[in-house]
Amino acid sequence: MKYLIANWKAHKTLKDVEEWVKVFRENYSSDQSDLRIILAASAPHLSYLKKAVEGLNHVVVAAQSVSAEPEGSFTGEVTAKALESVVDYCIVGHSERRARGESKEQIDAQIKNLQVVGIIPILCIRNVEDFPVGYSGIVAYEQPDAIGTGNNTAVEEVMDVYRKLNLSQNSTFLYGASVDENNCNEYLEYPEIKGFIVGTASLDPRQFIKILEKI
Ligand code: PGA
Repeated sequence: MKYLIANWKAHKTLKDVEEWVKVFRENYSSDQSDLRIILAASAPHLSYLKKAVEGLNHVVVAAQSVSAEPEGSFTGEVTAKALESVVDYCIVGHSERRARGESKEQIDAQIKNLQVVGIIPILCIRNVEDFPVGYSGIVAYEQPDAIGTGNNTAVEEVMDVYRKLNLSQNSTFLYGASVDENNCNEYLEYPEIKGFIVGTASLDPRQFIKILEKI
């Protein structure tokens, strides 16, 4: 299975999301069965987006974050239970959230909460040290200095991290940070790298589709 994840971060109004899907629908065609395209939008847009992508082969929706609390009196928190019937996947541990104070313990709790309700975590790590002992599943290596800068990480370094992680057999390794249609081929030469998390180059559906066509 290959993955292409659009991480829209804190970009896009609901109207922007509608427009993105419209253009994507007009230009997307995929009969590749072992591909999953995951669109990670702002929490209030997820229900809309889930409906909007219905009928598009291989396209599903993800949250960008989840509460470390399972449920309760935590105003403003979005729990895994609240996301349960809306998304199939959820990004956790993104470096932009770790930089805002999210701890390893909170990330562990988020993963657990997601697994309880059957949402698949997409765990982002900045380095080998971020990788939780015993974790098995989707993991994306995203070096913070390479994110949003155009300075994508050299594939040799990405593969070095991959080897050090010593992932379980049912794990999936992804790369993220400044991926675009010009540099994605370098990574795709390595079958260990099963796809990408794409931020900046996912904001425009036409640019996103160019990456998709290379996978
Ligand atoms: P970028 O973002 O593609 O803009 O570098 C990737 C990410 O932060 O997930």
